[in-house]
Amino acid sequence: VNVKKEHRSGYHFQPTKHWINDPNGPMYYNGVYHLFYQYNPKGAVWGNIVWAHSVSKDLINWKKVEHAIFPSKPFDKYGCWSGSATVLPGNKPVILYTGIVDDKNTQVQNYAVPANLSDPYLREWIKPDNNPLIVADKAINGTYFRDPTTAWLGKDGHWRISIGGKKNNRGISYLYKSRDFMHWVKAKHPLHATAGTGNWECPDFFPVSATNGLDTSVVGPNVKHVMKVSLDATRFEYYTLGSYDVGKDRYIPDPDMIDGWNGLRYDYGNFYASKSFFDPSKNRRILWGWANESDSTDNDIKKGWAGVQLIPRTIVLDPNGKQLLQWPVEELETLRGNKVELSNKILNKGENVEIKGITAAQADVDVTFSFESLDKAEPFDPSWDRYDAQKICSQKGSTVEGGLGPFGLLTLASQNLEEYTPVFFRVFKDQDKHLVLMCSDASRSSIKDDKTKMKDGKDAYRPSFAGFVNVDLTEKKLSLRSLIDNSVVESFGAGGKTCITSRVYPALALFGNAHLYAFNNGTEAVKIDSLNAWTMNRPREMNH
Ligand code: FRU
Repeated sequence: VNVKKEHRSGYHFQPTKHWINDPNGPMYYNGVYHLFYQYNPKGAVWGNIVWAHSVSKDLINWKKVEHAIFPSKPFDKYGCWSGSATVLPGNKPVILYTGIVDDKNTQVQNYAVPANLSDPYLREWIKPDNNPLIVADKAINGTYFRDPTTAWLGKDGHWRISIGGKKNNRGISYLYKSRDFMHWVKAKHPLHATAGTGNWECPDFFPVSATNGLDTSVVGPNVKHVMKVSLDATRFEYYTLGSYDVGKDRYIPDPDMIDGWNGLRYDYGNFYASKSFFDPSKNRRILWGWANESDSTDNDIKKGWAGVQLIPRTIVLDPNGKQLLQWPVEELETLRGNKVELSNKILNKGENVEIKGITAAQADVDVTFSFESLDKAEPFDPSWDRYDAQKICSQKGSTVEGGLGPFGLLTLASQNLEEYTPVFFRVFKDQDKHLVLMCSDASRSSIKDDKTKMKDGKDAYRPSFAGFVNVDLTEKKLSLRSLIDNSVVESFGAGGKTCITSRVYPALALFGNAHLYAFNNGTEAVKIDSLNAWTMNRPREMNH
């Protein structure tokens, strides 16, 4: 294959060529981070799926090693799909993954163990002959039965895992228990299920606290649990916070949580099939998510590659107890190069300021805006759907004049703004409260094929991704961090309360021709309190 450099990531994880999807089995073991991922060794479209494997000491510089798991046995002959790692007592890692056993996509759950625990990179994995460990019983639809979680250990000494699926249109996270990790019994009740949500892919279930990460087995009166599922119908990931009733072995979302389509999302953009793991070396929980291309399949094939892993994020409970906070792992900062700073810069209505002196195609930008008053916030139209932020953003984009906002950054911008991907806020007044909308709008990201159909018949996917930010505005400040990487714009609003990732394909704003601006198109002036921006260097061993 002839791999096209254009739009490839500079510091987001990406193999040298071909298709990738879900991050699998992330773990920390004896000083090394492991990332496995769904990979097609034969091309830039989904298929022929194996577990590719890379290792790292810092989550940033990765080294490729041999594929860990690939089809070879009757229990995974048609594919080695997603799964998770668990480090068992005695420091013994084990992987659980979904095997495809026939051409009808029938799914079973298998395990694999390292061939040699003294190999620091755990390069070779063995799939013992007592696989599969779990097959669907008659009550389960075996073509919707996949993506086992990391196991957690109950006080009764039994391990538990969850597996995603559906019955009719009810999303289900099945619960299985085992004393020895080899014999698994389905629990009477699923861990959780929700009507009307369709199939649950890649469930993740773990405890959180506001201060640090917790091992997956931790329970207790002060611990909240997170239940995350990937919903194929919208390609977003939804989560709730709740409690884990260890007696009944059931997860119960908190009463104020929305459990379904209008619920909280990890990311309001292109972020899917994520998986978290506990990192005991830094006492944190880390989240890995995959971003697919937003380009046509034809273009993916022409490029010779498709998909990136997003920057791993530390996740903690927001001190308000109502949501999570996500933030790029601190190790990312080791890639920061040349820096520019700006402070106390007023942006009046219609003003842009260019952030010069960095490589705008590959940058980390952290900015805090402040404003004098909330009085000019636009009224929130009562006919708008509060849960359809994306629609509001598509109507009220970055150029539509507002009151307080739109203000923010124009990323991957061409010199004369023929193309740009704005990441911005717009503040609305809704009766006695304010609503903060955050957008990452790809609609003007490329002059190429504008408004035309893609060659494979699909519309060019340039969505106005958006979400609301549940932030306290008493200090009259809003912060935004964007990780810009050629075709990736990964943004964190208000310290990681709302995250949005876009994939964009500028035709002009490439490499040295990309620019970065801060802007304000609201009638209320805003001030850049402080802005720090860095050129991001390439990792040392970025893949292979
Ligand atoms: C999610 C998913 C998983 C499955 C894998 C197959 O993107 O569909 O449910 O295990 O990808 O590659």
